[in-house]
Amino acid sequence: MNAGRVALISGVSGGLGGAVTRAFPRAGFTVVGVARGAGNYVSADLTRPEGARAAVDEALRQAGRVDVLVHLMGGFAGGQPVEATDDATWQRMLDLNLNAAFYLCRAVLPAMKAAGRGRILTVGSRTGVEAAANFAAYGVSKAALIALTRTLALEGREHGITANVVLPSTIDTPANRAAMPQADATRWVKPEAIADLLVWLASDEAGEINGAVIPIYGRA
Ligand SMILES: NC(=O)c1ccc[n+]([C@@H]2O[C@H](COP(=O)([O-])OP(=O)(O)OC[C@H]3O[C@@H](n4cnc5c(N)ncnc54)[C@H](OP(=O)(O)O)[C@@H]3O)[C@@H](O)[C@H]2O)c1
Repeated sequence: MNAGRVALISGVSGGLGGAVTRAFPRAGFTVVGVARGAGNYVSADLTRPEGARAAVDEALRQAGRVDVLVHLMGGFAGGQPVEATDDATWQRMLDLNLNAAFYLCRAVLPAMKAAGRGRILTVGSRTGVEAAANFAAYGVSKAALIALTRTLALEGREHGITANVVLPSTIDTPANRAAMPQADATRWVKPEAIADLLVWLASDEAGEINGAVIPIYGRA
């Protein structure tokens, strides 16, 4: 099952990263992780084109191939109406949630096309399909990520490359529990459930699923 397949996973040190980096090896994948810190993963700033290229080059150097790109990396900011949203917040959301995905997908596609096979998995948000007041920058960046993923699905299909995006609601992470201590965290979606969905989308069995925009909301 997936033996010999290599998954390049961004955002490995985040709240969702732990569950995903445990699930992929369990399913037989070799994992190359990416984040900015120092850990058991490739260190790269993916908001920069050269950082994304370097991460893909390093994955190819370490593992010889990239069969699956699991792009978890993203960020969250907002809480102000549009007229009070500053340039830095707007730019940061576009950099973290859209531009990094564009740079990383662009960098990984030549190797996937040469292999005649690939899986691109991105992580949007419910806010990418349901507008939320006071979160324009975040919502717009995730909506654009969905558009990018669906475009990749169309461009990839003649090359054996699929692209799908999953849309979590609030994820049950330590950071969210700390930020919202009064909330009922049992209603939130579990990182393990998202990880299982991503593993399945990466499998051969999911080869006919392309361009899907998949809600995974738990009971939130
Ligand atoms: N948490 C939620 O409730 C929620 C809900 C809906 C959607 N999502 C989406 O789900 C995904 C994962 O969320 P999460 O909660 O795991 O996020 P997180 O805890 O904030 O983790 C973000 C990850 O991205 C990495 N990262 C940040 N900036 C980077 C950069 N410039 N270059 C490379 N890596 C960078 C971080 O590592 P370093 O800081 O070490 O680089 C970290 O590994 C994101 O796309 C998020 O938008 C989350």
